[in-house]
Amino acid sequence: MIYPIVAYGDPVLKKTAQPIEKGTDLKKLVADMYETMYNANGVGLAAPQIGMSIRLFVVDGSPMDEDDETLKTFKKVFVNPTVMEETGDAWAFEEGCLSIPGIRADVNRPPKVTVRYFDEDWNEHTDTYDGLAARIIQHEYDHLEGVLFVDKISAMKKRLIQSKLTDISRGKARADYRLRFAK
Ligand code: NI
Repeated sequence: MIYPIVAYGDPVLKKTAQPIEKGTDLKKLVADMYETMYNANGVGLAAPQIGMSIRLFVVDGSPMDEDDETLKTFKKVFVNPTVMEETGDAWAFEEGCLSIPGIRADVNRPPKVTVRYFDEDWNEHTDTYDGLAARIIQHEYDHLEGVLFVDKISAMKKRLIQSKLTDISRGKARADYRLRFAK
């Protein structure tokens, strides 16, 4: 099932998402999130983006594997993740977000991230990622904390895109996937 993607301006995107009860069967939801993400040509999707304020995101970096070989097999589900550590000198990369169609901007983030999480079968993992895999995880993890990439860009860039953001929050935006706007 393909969900509409919650657009910028909806309060669910600003909320801290709640942990999922251990043992919950996530198979259907995970399958639906992948279907929704692929339909929108995304490389990551967090549950708040389909209106569920719970700590879950899915990633598949393979569409970006021309930029980074390691992304070929980077398809994963992160349940109740906790970022343990971020290290290295922050680097800029142009990010976008399915909830903020038509806007891209450079965001500075540390290159390396260590994250503890459960997979969809509730096995616990602690893994360290770098490069674009780390970048995707950091962006999606922020969604669970109620943080969007536009909260992390320079004040000047933010001024430049402010009217576009206002348009999106008022329902004046289009994408080639279905959007759900704040009421
Ligand atoms: Ni996003």
